[in-house]
Amino acid sequence: IACVPALAQAPYPGDKPITLIVPFTAGGPTDKVGRDLAEALRKPLGATIIIENVGGVGGTLGANKVAKAAPDGHTLLLHHIGLGTAPALYRSLPYKTLDDFEYLGLVNEVPMTLIGRSTLPANNYAELAKWLEANKGKINLANAGVGSASHLCGLMFQSAIKIDMTTVPYKGTAPAMNDLLGGQVDIMCDQTTNTTGQIESGKVKAYALMSSQRLTTGALAKLPTADESGLKGFNLAIWHGLYAPKGTPKAVVDKINAALRTALKDADFQKRQAALGAVIVTDARLSPAEHKKFVEAEINKLGPVIKAAGQYAD
Ligand code: MLT
Repeated sequence: IACVPALAQAPYPGDKPITLIVPFTAGGPTDKVGRDLAEALRKPLGATIIIENVGGVGGTLGANKVAKAAPDGHTLLLHHIGLGTAPALYRSLPYKTLDDFEYLGLVNEVPMTLIGRSTLPANNYAELAKWLEANKGKINLANAGVGSASHLCGLMFQSAIKIDMTTVPYKGTAPAMNDLLGGQVDIMCDQTTNTTGQIESGKVKAYALMSSQRLTTGALAKLPTADESGLKGFNLAIWHGLYAPKGTPKAVVDKINAALRTALKDADFQKRQAALGAVIVTDARLSPAEHKKFVEAEINKLGPVIKAAGQYAD
């Protein structure tokens, strides 16, 4: 009997590609992190990874698609702080944040920048504050929908300066950026992964870095923080994590977490992240248990912040 060569142990459950859902449109900051991470995960996972952008409702449509997917390791989610804000913003989410996902590990933290259209007659934060005061009732603030990182930052900013603005929601901050570049909206709070290039090229004006410390390298190192500019204590950076549907076998969760640890050490990935101001999470924080504990703490921290800004969905 001819011996049938043992099937090569599939490096991943079967040889079906993995679909990595990015819950915002292509070209935005979440998409950029997703694509860079997929590239760095490909080898350690031994699998083809396809990005699927599922934008809408502040990232909750994409999150729900993964929560409801087969728990076979072939559908993953790359999401950010929005997973932590949605419970306070939506009366009835179609998924339970802490029960419907396997937590595969945190990825990075990305600073936020407050930017404006190039035609805005304000060239620094002080002049922007004056312009906002003088144009109350006529200010258009872009974001990626209720529950997005840009929504949270915009909410916190309006609450800090006590000026309400008209918010213009998009399915991601890539299309929002297009309208800012075109002058259709006035300002936006968005991640450095999406704004660094536009700021460097002078196509948008940068007013503040929304973290507590200035960046030490890159084009935005000179950008003063919101705290330095008068918004005492303002501090927001956007964390990203990787998820699978609840019930994904532990062996698969562990394999993906191990591959994630390798991917975050990938030299190319690290270089790209550093160039865009992103800070990769340290190895000590990379266990699935640490990830879930962190998200639970963030939900408890962000709820009151959102309540204070008046958008809490009781
Ligand atoms: C956000 O504001 O949540 C993200 O910037 C949206 C995106 O990645 O497009």
